[in-house]
Amino acid sequence: MRLIHSVAEMALARSEVERPLGLVPTMGALHEGHLSLVRRARSENASVVVTIFVNPTQFGPSEDLAAYPRDPDRDLALLEAEGADVVFMPPPKEVYPAGYDTWVSVERTSEPLEGASRPGHFLGVATVVCKLFNMVRPDRAYFGQKDAQQLQVIRRLNSDLNFDVKINAMPTVREPDGLAMSSRNAYLSPDQRRAAPVVYAALQAAQELYADGARQASAVREAMQRVLASEPLAQPEYVSIADPGTLAELELIDGPALASLAVRIGTTRLIDNVVLGTDERSLP
Ligand code: PAF
Repeated sequence: MRLIHSVAEMALARSEVERPLGLVPTMGALHEGHLSLVRRARSENASVVVTIFVNPTQFGPSEDLAAYPRDPDRDLALLEAEGADVVFMPPPKEVYPAGYDTWVSVERTSEPLEGASRPGHFLGVATVVCKLFNMVRPDRAYFGQKDAQQLQVIRRLNSDLNFDVKINAMPTVREPDGLAMSSRNAYLSPDQRRAAPVVYAALQAAQELYADGARQASAVREAMQRVLASEPLAQPEYVSIADPGTLAELELIDGPALASLAVRIGTTRLIDNVVLGTDERSLP
């Protein structure tokens, strides 16, 4: 496994490795969710590049950039064991050198949900993903369905800017109690960790209601809110039933619907989602 820190070395490596080339972009602090992406990339490509870059531009001023978990030695050992060919771990000044002044804005897809709660977040995500696509020039790229809106933003920019990368989404990997794996789970105190499965319990309530025939989105949102209200440590930020492609809120669920939510537990912000009415793997 080659460890690369500079854009110039990455350009050389991408011309040397065998094709097809699969890219797994990450911010490190790897967990099973990331590893499922690496395994899928490994199974479908001749070469696998994993990037580890805690992208400063996708964190708001009051967010957790400095405290974001970092464990490069552990990450590298895990990636070596999964058979990654190249790990690209650039320092921030390689990605954003002095004078950097270009931003990629995916407009409507970035507006609701996470975009409304975290202004500027998707400007940072879209910009860094474009840069990583240009630096690595992958044939395929792998992202988690847990960040459902991020996935739609990336699909949009990939198509709008003609990158022609095949974007693959992988299902959310969960702890045995249902909590979606996330690097941010490391921030939870033991009490908060015990409370955190309420996030997935709210989504399960949505699934149950949908399975019982409920099609009014407001009824499903209310059921999710009721579950969250049963946990005193959970402070909901939003609860949404939206079209999975446009992310517009639905009144009537008459096709696949993305049930998603953001919940604060203490200072930790957790997000999660499920798709009602279809298999996650067949998302648009
Ligand atoms: O999902 C993430 O880890 C990040 O948002 C990504 C896609 C690597 C961009 O920094």
